[in-house]
Amino acid sequence: MSDRLEELRRRHAVAEAGGGEERRARQHKEGKLAARERIDLLLDEGTFEEMDKLVRHRCRDFGMEEQVIDGDGFVTGFGLIHGRPAYVFAQDFTVFGGSLSEMNAKKIVKVMDLALKTGAPVIGLNDSGGARIQEGVVSLGGYADIFLRNTLSSGVIPQISAIMGPCAGGAVYSPAITDFTFMVDKTSYMFVTGPDVIKTVTHEDVTKEKLGGAMTHNSVSGVAHFLSHDDAECLRMIRELLSYLPQNNREDPPIRETGDPAGREDASLDTLVPAASNQPYDIKDVIHRVVDNGDFFEVHEHWARNIVIGFARMAGRPVGVVANQPAYLAGVLDIDSSTKGARFVRFCDAFNIPILTFEDVPGFLPGTAQEFGGIIRHGAKLLYAYAEATVPKITVITRKAYGGAYCVMGSKHLRTDVNLAWPTAEIAVMGAEGAVNIVYRRELAAAADQNALRQAKTEEFRERFANPFVAAEHGFLDDVIEPRQTRPQVIRALRMLETKVDTMPKKKHGNIPL
Ligand code: HXC
Repeated sequence: MSDRLEELRRRHAVAEAGGGEERRARQHKEGKLAARERIDLLLDEGTFEEMDKLVRHRCRDFGMEEQVIDGDGFVTGFGLIHGRPAYVFAQDFTVFGGSLSEMNAKKIVKVMDLALKTGAPVIGLNDSGGARIQEGVVSLGGYADIFLRNTLSSGVIPQISAIMGPCAGGAVYSPAITDFTFMVDKTSYMFVTGPDVIKTVTHEDVTKEKLGGAMTHNSVSGVAHFLSHDDAECLRMIRELLSYLPQNNREDPPIRETGDPAGREDASLDTLVPAASNQPYDIKDVIHRVVDNGDFFEVHEHWARNIVIGFARMAGRPVGVVANQPAYLAGVLDIDSSTKGARFVRFCDAFNIPILTFEDVPGFLPGTAQEFGGIIRHGAKLLYAYAEATVPKITVITRKAYGGAYCVMGSKHLRTDVNLAWPTAEIAVMGAEGAVNIVYRRELAAAADQNALRQAKTEEFRERFANPFVAAEHGFLDDVIEPRQTRPQVIRALRMLETKVDTMPKKKHGNIPL
């Protein structure tokens, strides 16, 4: 017995030592934490239960039989976050560069299967040189086994990826399928092919950081949703994100007492929208004034900034906020903002999180770049996402709701439950000047004083359409409200909708325009 105990302790010690002190020191020197240190910060203190600490790789080539480390470099298991179960895997860069072996792929698959069966989130902490080169195809197979689980778990349990070191080649596709990707500034990078391959194939010179660093993926490609400055901040942000999410798609998101009165009005909202309709304002000022305690957990903060998305609470209940941003590109819908909004709406719908939309949109962005890039297909994603969503949906039009964008942004016609508008709302097929130029083209060409006619007709159009009352007369709006009352009105609507049941026609799955 004592021999076995001795053996057990020795093996545990080997697993915990990982690649050794020297490699760990190098990790720290680069500003990165070690795998177990990361897990300790992610989970509630003292709750980590490690699994498969005794697993060993089975490679007998290239001298690998001499290099066996218990646990094989990946740390996997479960613990608690805010008192709720979560599964975690962390790649330990100090062991064979965190490379994925057949056996540690099996370790990941084991926790993913358990997470799916028990209905709890999975968080992957990535820091890896990719497929374990010495193992060849069995390592590739391990990746594919993980990708399958990512796909099967999508929409059932929240899946979160943190990129905290290298993540290259096909390995990037696991994070890509998960719901949210975090990256740490200056220490993480993701790309399908690295700078050397790019140089050979396209003769472009690009650094690792520019090609696939945290800011690139947060602001240019939209592959990453969150940017953090170090590992500790990244792990804190993951905990915060999870506080808004249910454990799985069968649960409602967790209620947290926020102390912000449901009936709180905010008089400053009455004057927040500028009188001139082409003047910008920051939609985040509206969001902060309406949601509980002004707390808004923004997603994709740096990408497609003409639309703002994120999580907040209303009377303690999580909501997903989608808002056009007049302060950036006038809040226009383009390819990136449509894709950004659509994926978020679908996430919220999958996980029973009500969607609160603030609308101020001049339409879709014109231009050959957008048309050639497929704005028709991408804009349709947002429309599709809103239309299929069956969670409670509330839309507040603060100013412009023009053209197709009116239909797309959670209009009544896409089965939004409660549609409200501020008196500043303008709902029309297009802006008054554009409308006059088309409808009165002949009259304008023949007029002695074109400017006077254009001005008179524009005024007439504006009077007739640039208001919320026509839409309200049709019942396309349920009410026109005083801006200061937005919070109490939305909370009352959310309460009314708590028991909402809506469905989709029976089908295998829809065919969203990808
Ligand atoms: C085995 C690996 C490894 C790998 C790194 N190591 N990557 N061992 N398989 N894929 C080992 C190194 O030998 C070294 O061991 C230790 O990890 C640290 O690596 P360094 O090179 O010293 O670290 P660094 O200078 O920081 O460079 C990190 C790196 C580089 C950029 C990730 O190691 C690298 O380019 N690795 C290979 C990446 C790669 O091509 N992977 C395959 C991609 S294809 P010692 O003992 O010296 O500490 C792929 C396909 C996935 O992944 C397909 C999915 C479908």
